[in-house]
Amino acid sequence: MRQKFVIGNWKMHTTTAEAIHLATAIATGMVTDDSVTVAVCPPFPYLALVGEILKGSRVALGAQNLYPAKEGAFTGEVSPTMLLDLGCRYVILGHSERRHILGESDAFIHHKVRVALDAGLDVIFCVGETLAERQADQTETVLDRQLLQGLDGLPAATLAHLSIAYEPLWAIGSSGHQATPQQAQDAHTVIRQRFGQIFSERSAQTLAIHYGGSVNPKNADGLLSRPGVDGGLIGGDSLNAEPFLAIVQAAIRQTQPVEAV
Ligand code: PGA
Repeated sequence: MRQKFVIGNWKMHTTTAEAIHLATAIATGMVTDDSVTVAVCPPFPYLALVGEILKGSRVALGAQNLYPAKEGAFTGEVSPTMLLDLGCRYVILGHSERRHILGESDAFIHHKVRVALDAGLDVIFCVGETLAERQADQTETVLDRQLLQGLDGLPAATLAHLSIAYEPLWAIGSSGHQATPQQAQDAHTVIRQRFGQIFSERSAQTLAIHYGGSVNPKNADGLLSRPGVDGGLIGGDSLNAEPFLAIVQAAIRQTQPVEAV
């Protein structure tokens, strides 16, 4: 069975003091339940200190990006080796903010995914369409392109270390819009089918697909209860322990077998 996963993406938020406070509150507030995997992805400067705080807790450490080389003359960049050295298990790649604000191409993201997997990191690969693309009925075409160009050719043996986050841009952050559970489920179905065509039906069935875009304690149960929605990538509501832990609780609830009535 695919395990539920809740990932906090802190983006470019927090100070040293805020990162310490937030990581401590999440680590100490986590209930001991191993049915759900939990990770937080702080900004690079706080990875080491957050990693120290998370040690011995059930919360894993992840990064929000990397540069696809082991080391070298890449001013301002951070390598997979450094992330592993700091205790990261996960890395988010292909996030829409990097695609659209930083101009990352599918080919560059593909290279990052490959190098990250080679290095031994677990990759959370993000895909998703803009509002204009959805309105033009292009959602499937966009997902298809992002999956194919981002992932095609990856060695089958590495796929166990890959998960996908479906994040429609129109539902992220302060957009004011939310995807309905049905919209999320439909897109996840498209992604799983396409992944099965690129790789194999078997790998598609074991692939975890998370949803991201304004997930909060109110809508988390509805989203995470849908078949094929295996987790949540949380931005805004990962910046406070209370809503983040409430979303983790929703994920735990959604792993429980439904009692017969
Ligand atoms: P949001 O961000 O939860 O604030 O919508 C999600 C993301 O962009 O990863």
